[in-house]
Amino acid sequence: MSEAAIQQDPQSDSPIRVRKVAAACGAEIEGVDLSKPLDDATFRAIHDAFVEHEVIVFRDQEMTSEDQKAFGRRFGDLTVHPFAPSSDDAPELIVFDNDAETPPWGTDVWHSDETFRAEPPLGTMLRALIVPEWGGDTMYASMSAAYDGLSDRMQQFISGLEAIHDFKPFRQLFGEDADAIRKLREFEDRYPPVAHPVVRTHPVSGRKVLFVNPQFTLGIKGMDEAESRALLELLFHQAEIPEYQYRHHWAPNTLVFWDNRSVQHYAIHDYYPQRRKLERITIKGDRPFSSDPVVDIEVVRSRKGARAISQDLKAGHKPRAE
Ligand SMILES: [Fe+2]
Repeated sequence: MSEAAIQQDPQSDSPIRVRKVAAACGAEIEGVDLSKPLDDATFRAIHDAFVEHEVIVFRDQEMTSEDQKAFGRRFGDLTVHPFAPSSDDAPELIVFDNDAETPPWGTDVWHSDETFRAEPPLGTMLRALIVPEWGGDTMYASMSAAYDGLSDRMQQFISGLEAIHDFKPFRQLFGEDADAIRKLREFEDRYPPVAHPVVRTHPVSGRKVLFVNPQFTLGIKGMDEAESRALLELLFHQAEIPEYQYRHHWAPNTLVFWDNRSVQHYAIHDYYPQRRKLERITIKGDRPFSSDPVVDIEVVRSRKGARAISQDLKAGHKPRAE
């Protein structure tokens, strides 16, 4: 085969086929059976597709929960969600089983999973067992594409900022009696609010990713509350831009694995009261970091006084010593 022919078909040696399904994120992977152990070459090809396409989809996978966990463990240790119910014999597995009696809750908001943790999961694997006749899609948004889409001015402005993340939506799961309040305090001690860079650097691809979400991000560190609110509103909105999105329509035996470091997702709650059952696992991630230096400002200062000084300077006066 000539060199030109090889360049035209870069996947010719790959043990899997990767078919891109949306502009900014999303690819379907064919040619692999996830119920069987993966050889290293296949694992590497899947890993590379995962990092490049951010959301990868495997269809027609007849597999068990154990197979799903074994596949997940190829990427790292599995983690246990602090708030979602799970069984004692399979704490890493969350079963989303929703129907008329158990309506879906809390996932119809743009988010990355568990960013209230110091080390949010690297990725999440969701596998469909029972799907509604219509509805119940999951939306994904590439937050690396969202970052790239910002103007140079905005990218410069948000560089070095940190945001505070907190498990705020889960507070309502606790009751109001003394025992529930004591339990909530324990969780607050274990998961205190955490600062993550507003722009994180992907540890594998090196891409910059917009890393704030309306589910867990409370505010921008060092900013006045009104400023922080306005800026976050603008940044949250980026996930809603259709050009950055992939919308996944579920079929039974489909497994979707997304890079929680670079995408946000939104589970559409439009299928009630139909039944929808999926199983989820998460893989341990590392502490988000930024390749840009973090500007660490502890105190929120009003700049009104500074404005007066700069006006004095413009007018040719010396600033007043205080
Ligand atoms: Fe989620």
